[in-house]
Amino acid sequence: MQIFIDTANLREIIKANQRGIVDGCTTNPMLVAKENVPFKERMREILKVVQGDVSIEVTTNDPEEMVKEATKYANWGENVAIKIPMGMAGLKATKTLTDKGIKTNVTACMTMHQAVLAAKSGATYVSLFWGRIEDLGFDAQRVMEDTVKAFEKHKFDSKIIVGSIRQMSHINRAIQSGAHILTIPPALLDKMAFHPRTESTIKEFLDTWEEYQRVQKLD
Ligand code: E4P
Repeated sequence: MQIFIDTANLREIIKANQRGIVDGCTTNPMLVAKENVPFKERMREILKVVQGDVSIEVTTNDPEEMVKEATKYANWGENVAIKIPMGMAGLKATKTLTDKGIKTNVTACMTMHQAVLAAKSGATYVSLFWGRIEDLGFDAQRVMEDTVKAFEKHKFDSKIIVGSIRQMSHINRAIQSGAHILTIPPALLDKMAFHPRTESTIKEFLDTWEEYQRVQKLD
């Protein structure tokens, strides 16, 4: 299983990289807009610091325009994966890009059958949106598990990414679902390392050590 970081914030990406916990990065137009910096420069910086694939999303619904935009982004680095919105237009663009040897990430999938179409069109990655699936009242873990099983059964090569992760329970359940990749926002990556009992245990050990040293010095 791989972990990607779900952000366009360079500082957070560098921080996660230093800890050796990320295998790739996903962005979307909303995450980029939040940064309020020039798009191309930021993407090129991210592509330089991330070892694995970085998803950059197209900003049009027209398949020909998607391919044009994607072809431009694909020249920015070998680790570019083009995020293409799910839908008939997106599938058409995905097929064209696959034929051109450009990596794709078909995004905003909410169901197993959408994910299957994305895989059929040759997507490198297929992103299913956990939080948004649950917003609609559906069981995201079930959708993920069914999709993982379908991909195994029918031998699709596409990697399943769990996106729209909003809380720790999503992470724990997504890990168990068998999805290939979880893309996690920086704040939750930080939380994954934390447990109050871990903190108090470490404090207990260090406090005892200090006391032991103090006593040793006295003797
Ligand atoms: C990842 O690929 C998605 O763009 C992102 O996780 C969406 O998250 P959201 O549903 O919280 O906006």
